[in-house]
Amino acid sequence: MNTVRMGLIGAGGWGAGWGAMHARTYAGMTGAELHGVADVDAGRAQAMADKFGARAYASTAALLADPEIDAVAVVTPDFAHDEVLLAAARAGKHILAEKPLAMTVEACERIVAAAEESGVALMVDFHARWSPPLYKAWEAIREGEIGAPRHVYYRLNDRIFVPTEMLPWAGKTTVLWFVGSHAIDTVRWLIGDDVARVYAVARKGLLQGRGIDTPDYYQSMLEFRSGATAVIENSWILPNSMPNIVDVKCEIVGDDGALYVDQSHNRALEKYTGTTGSYPDVFVMPSIYGAQCGFAADSIRHFVDCVREGRTPMITGYDGLMVTKVICAIEESIRTKQPVDIA
Ligand SMILES: NC(=O)c1ccc[n+]([C@@H]2O[C@H](COP(=O)([O-])OP(=O)(O)OC[C@H]3O[C@@H](n4cnc5c(N)ncnc54)[C@H](O)[C@@H]3O)[C@@H](O)[C@H]2O)c1
Repeated sequence: MNTVRMGLIGAGGWGAGWGAMHARTYAGMTGAELHGVADVDAGRAQAMADKFGARAYASTAALLADPEIDAVAVVTPDFAHDEVLLAAARAGKHILAEKPLAMTVEACERIVAAAEESGVALMVDFHARWSPPLYKAWEAIREGEIGAPRHVYYRLNDRIFVPTEMLPWAGKTTVLWFVGSHAIDTVRWLIGDDVARVYAVARKGLLQGRGIDTPDYYQSMLEFRSGATAVIENSWILPNSMPNIVDVKCEIVGDDGALYVDQSHNRALEKYTGTTGSYPDVFVMPSIYGAQCGFAADSIRHFVDCVREGRTPMITGYDGLMVTKVICAIEESIRTKQPVDIA
C-alpha cells in the first residue's frame, strides 16, 4: 500500500480542533491522506473536512462502509471509544485508538478479539514512547546502564484549566483515564514488565465544588512481577499560573544508576512577555515552519508506516488492555482501601 487513506472519527480538540494532531499529521505526511471525517456533530465534521480537504460523512457507519478508507483514527471522548472501535474492527479497518482503549476490561477484551478476528492492526496512541528524553531513558535501561530498574516515580499532572475549561466531558472521565493511562503505559514500557498489584488513594473536593464530579488527584503504587515498584501521581488541580499546562517528571533508580527526566519544565525555551512567563512545548507537538513535529506526531506516523508496510505496531491492543486492567484495579483499591492483585 503506497498511501494509507485515513478516516478520522471524532473531529474535536485533539483530532481536528485546537490540537488537530491527527488531521495535521495525516495531511502533512507522505504515505497518508486524510480521506474522510465523521463526528456526531455533522457541522463539525463538515468544517474540519473543508479545512483539511477531506470528505465529510453523515455518520461513522457511512465512513466505515466506504471501501476507500483503509484505516481509522478513533478520537472520540474516553467514554465513547468502545462502540466505534468495535464497528471499525468489524468493518475491517486498521485502527489507531486514542487512549484509553476503553474504560472497562470487558470492552477492551471485545475490541482486541474483534481486531484479531478481522486481521486488522490495532494500536493505542500512547505517544510518550516517542518522547526523546523518555526514549533515551528507555534505551539506557535496555543497554544495562543503570542495572535492573528498582523503583520509579512518575508524575503527570495538568493545570486545573484542563478539566474546567478544555474538556467538556471531564465529569465523565478522570485524570487517571485521561493522563494516568499514558503514565501507566510509560512505566510498563520503561520497566519492561507487567503490573502484578496496585494500591491507591484518590481525593475529591475542589473540582466537585466547581460542578465537575471527578477526583482532584490520584496517588497510585504499582508493584511489578519482577519486584520493581512505581509511584504514579496524576492531578487535575495544578494552579493556572503554572508555566505549562502539564507537569511531567520521571525518576528511575536501578541497581547501578539512576535516570531523571523533566519533559515539561526543562527550560529549553523560557518565554517572558510583558505579562506572563512560560516554557513553551518543544517536545510534544511543536509546529516548525508550518510542519507538524514532535512525538505526538511521531506515534501517529508510526501507525501509518506499520499499516503501509504490513508491520505490527509497537503498541498493540494488549497494551491498551493491560493499562485498563491497572486503572480498574486502582479504582477497586480506592473503593476497598486494600491492595488489588491483577490477573
Ligand atoms: N494522545 C493524547 O495525548 C491526547 C490528548 C488529548 C486528547 N486525547 C484523547 O482523544 C480523545 C478525544 O479528546 P478531545 O480532547 O479531542 O475531545 P473533544 O470533546 O474535543 O472531541 C471529541 C469529538 O468526538 C465527537 N464524538 C463524540 N461521540 C462520538 C461518537 N460516538 N462518534 C463520533 N464522534 C463522536 C464529539 O462531537 C467531538 O467532536 C479522548 O479519548 C482523549 O483522551 C489524547
